[in-house]
Amino acid sequence: MAIQRTLSIIKPDAVAKNVIGKIYSRFESNGLKVIASKMAWLSPQEAGEFYGVHKERPFFKDLVSFMISGPVMIQVLEGEDAITKNRDLMGATDPKKAEPGTIRADFAESIDANAVHGSDAEETARGEIAFFFPAMNVYAGR
Ligand code: CMP
Repeated sequence: MAIQRTLSIIKPDAVAKNVIGKIYSRFESNGLKVIASKMAWLSPQEAGEFYGVHKERPFFKDLVSFMISGPVMIQVLEGEDAITKNRDLMGATDPKKAEPGTIRADFAESIDANAVHGSDAEETARGEIAFFFPAMNVYAGR
């Protein structure tokens, strides 16, 4: 398995619950390293652009409103098979369908307030990392 990088966001609901450390601990104890991080309160423009792929979906407006409702913690995770590993740790998008022991099953309330975001593929990861960390333009480069 290759070393990959993926973009992770701890969403406003989980930041408000004060569980950044608990979520970081899941990453760290499962072989994912935090190699860049920042806390930010996104503007409507930033949230809308980040989730631009969803702009025609019925949930887009609610998604943007939720993502700007409070600060988020944004990080790049690096490790073996990081994209899939992070998605496995997060669990299903809808916390009601997430496997017990996953981040969303343990910390999330609803499909909107679902605690975390993670890139879904290499191409997406590259774009999402560049969106928030423009200086990290060499994918998995060291
Ligand atoms: P995320 O992984 O951040 O990517 C897009 C987000 O849209 C998703 O998590 C959910 O929080 C939100 N969302 C709301 N409704 C839906 C839906 N029906 N399908 C997928 N994502 C949804």
